[in-house]
Amino acid sequence: MMNVKYLYVYTIGCQMNVYDSEMFGRVLRPMGYIPAETLEDADLIIVNTCSVRKKAEEKAFSFLGRLQSMKLKNPELVVAIGGCVAQQEGANIVSRMPWVDIVFGTRAVGRLPDIIKRFEESGTRVIDVTMDPVQIEALPPKDLDTPSPVSTFVTIMRGCDNFCSYCIVPYVRGRETSRSPENIIREIEALVERGTREVTLLGQNVNSYGLKEGICSFPDLLRQVNGIKNLERIRFATSHPKDLSDDLIRTYAELEKLCNHIHLPVQSGSDRLLERMNRKYTRAIYIERIEKLRTARQNMAVTSDMIVGFPGETDEDFDMTLELIKTIGYDGLFAFKYSDRPHAPAVDFPDKVPEDVKKNRLEKLLKLEKSLSQMRNDAYLGRVEPILVDGRSKKIGETGLREWAGRTSSNKVVNFNVPDAMISNDIMGKIVEVRIEQCRPHSLKGTWVKTL
Ligand code: SAH
Ligand code: SF4
Ligand code: F3S
Repeated sequence: MMNVKYLYVYTIGCQMNVYDSEMFGRVLRPMGYIPAETLEDADLIIVNTCSVRKKAEEKAFSFLGRLQSMKLKNPELVVAIGGCVAQQEGANIVSRMPWVDIVFGTRAVGRLPDIIKRFEESGTRVIDVTMDPVQIEALPPKDLDTPSPVSTFVTIMRGCDNFCSYCIVPYVRGRETSRSPENIIREIEALVERGTREVTLLGQNVNSYGLKEGICSFPDLLRQVNGIKNLERIRFATSHPKDLSDDLIRTYAELEKLCNHIHLPVQSGSDRLLERMNRKYTRAIYIERIEKLRTARQNMAVTSDMIVGFPGETDEDFDMTLELIKTIGYDGLFAFKYSDRPHAPAVDFPDKVPEDVKKNRLEKLLKLEKSLSQMRNDAYLGRVEPILVDGRSKKIGETGLREWAGRTSSNKVVNFNVPDAMISNDIMGKIVEVRIEQCRPHSLKGTWVKTL
């Protein structure tokens, strides 16, 4: 009999880290690790970190700091740090925080069971941050018995070759490498068998999937995924505007499982800044791509990432960003204040924008974002929308019952009530029709009409 041990994973950062964290759970399961309910119950704590902005890095260190007293109380506790800060800092972490037992980098996910075993057997610290070009893929064990989430992520490629001048990702995730289409399809099929209905295919730039290896293009991969039985919906993130091909745009007209949404980060509306950011497209090219997408799919929801206060950003540059936001009419935006990152060339760029200017610009941008998102969402009022139910909402609804929650194909969060007679019916993972009755900037509310 294998001893049961408890694993707690704390995740900071992007969807790639969420995917990796789910994978940690799956690959450690055969070693006897099951999820811990609380931090205090854990035998092994893994902190999966992000270093895209200074704030994310600080969050990792403050969480690791909290673990020091836990480790003092319970010397048996194993503390591991993975992800982008681990990759960036390597052994420096243990000189700063000697209670850390294991440091593993972004390319070590496939080796994690081996790393944990080495630590358990030797009791001595393990540091593995090698950026092995031939990476061992972490694959979920075939006989896994735990159910899969209704909606989940599948990483199709790792690393990034784009070197945007502000970004640390190429340095902490290494060169772009694509997984084989066979492994991806096998993994999605296994997830679907255990309950998954929607997958989001992940990469820093999915448009260049498979090109370097010459294995399969991204549109062709989408076509293959579209053929998987019992999978209902396909999403992907992130797309780089410079590589958004006509063939990819065609898939929106072709593939019925592909959702009515694209996340297409633009970062800035000023050509001068786009060039300094090394983004390799212009504002005009970006607008043209969106127009083509909206021709292929009517009512396409479009979201984006924005950076404010990039070095050298003037009021005029920022106004051009606001203008672009209005021109596109986004359904949602993630906006960030520029943050200096080690290795990224922009660290040495002149004309840094003062913190208070960045703060004002961010507030202005978010205000515009909110009003545009409200306008886009208002168009849903009275419509009956198919929703993939992926959970219960956190709040109790007006009826005193907990509401269900899901998303439209356009990725809008919808909280909804179901009639009393339906309460015992399990609609989790089903597509239901919901009449939209209330529209907020970042979510919709409605009532169940029928289950499809
Ligand atoms: N590969 C994706 C995004 C990766 S990082 C892409 O190319 O779109 C997610 C977002 O973080 C970026 O889109 C960018 O808006 C933001 N970001 C990256 N580096 C940053 C920095 N140094 N300061 C502020 N925001 C940053
Ligand atoms: Fe960073 Fe640019 Fe790569 Fe995205 S495409 S991860 S922003 S370097
Ligand atoms: Fe952060 Fe690493 Fe993702 S830096 S955004 S966790 S790739």
